[in-house]
Amino acid sequence: RPRIGILTAGGDCPGLNAVIRGVVKSAYRMGYETLGFEGGFEGLVDPIRCRSLTPQNTSGILTLGGTILGSTNRGRFGVTVGEDLKLSLPEPMIEAVRQTFQKTQLQGLICVGGDGSLSIALELHRAGLPVVGVPKTIDNDLSCTAFTFGFDSAVNCATDALDRLHTTASSHDRVMVLEVMGRHAGWIALHAGIAGGGDVILIPEIPWSYEGIIAKIDDRRRMGKNFTLVVVAEGAELPSGAVVTRESVQTDRQTLLGGIGNEISQQLNKRIEQEVRYVVLGHLQRGGGPTNFDRVLATQLGVHAVRLVVQKRFGEMVCYQPPQIDSVTIAEAVGELRRVPPDSSAVAAARAMGISFGDTLD
Ligand code: F6P
Repeated sequence: RPRIGILTAGGDCPGLNAVIRGVVKSAYRMGYETLGFEGGFEGLVDPIRCRSLTPQNTSGILTLGGTILGSTNRGRFGVTVGEDLKLSLPEPMIEAVRQTFQKTQLQGLICVGGDGSLSIALELHRAGLPVVGVPKTIDNDLSCTAFTFGFDSAVNCATDALDRLHTTASSHDRVMVLEVMGRHAGWIALHAGIAGGGDVILIPEIPWSYEGIIAKIDDRRRMGKNFTLVVVAEGAELPSGAVVTRESVQTDRQTLLGGIGNEISQQLNKRIEQEVRYVVLGHLQRGGGPTNFDRVLATQLGVHAVRLVVQKRFGEMVCYQPPQIDSVTIAEAVGELRRVPPDSSAVAAARAMGISFGDTLD
């Protein structure tokens, strides 16, 4: 059988196994064997780590979180994401990958990854290697696709957390701050905030102030609601312009520990009488099985990626442009992340519902 390769690169997310299964099953039915490379792009180079994937040995993985192939977002291919992307693969690296293609007689390689990993795929394509892409990130911030698989599962997790925080916040008349993922974009915070009945949503795309949050808290108290739920994306900027990430990143000459959720709750504690608590949801959002939506999306993307390889449409990336699964060039999709438009209908609907974005438009 002719061979198709697949690898999963970058941070994991629910639905990766559903893509792998979609590829293996549909490729098999089209007469192809699938070779799975382990540990992301690392599996392509010495020591080459790959194994044959069959409908039998991938049976039952649809509902599993993570990736059976493993992944890495560090290592010799040095993935960095978004604006930080400074990628140029050294020629010996490309040569090593070329040899792997020859040794394993690959007709094409399906690279499942986010912005950084797809940029590596693009470099390989530009070096003449037959590569196609499948977009992946819980953050939903990849260009050219309306939704990435993993996002719905992450929103589900964050919504469940808000539902739980709701009852304890109301019992204790507290302000609860939930920090969710989203390094560059506020999609998870926005959707979970709407789905989970949040009162304040803070995202990187909309500048906010403590006065804005406190105005909402006061407003609610006046209406007899003595608790408030604040959802904040980890990448939201502080009013000072500083960005605090979960991993305590250097900010303007200051290192703030514990992420933006901690910082906001400390500041609110100083400014209001009410008790404030915070929760960092972190990698819980990336773990666990995919939702039904993500299973369907991931399966379709896997199947369509195989079609791209069979039709030799290399350098393309499958995408979801509702209601169709389609494709664009990888070059079009990478480099610029897709952020929440502040004038989007979801933001407008949230505002119309009385949700505050901590700004002056509330
Ligand atoms: O996939 C992107 C993301 O989910 C970000 O929101 C988050 O900051 C990051 O992954 C964390 O990744 P890791 O801990 O694997 O470096």
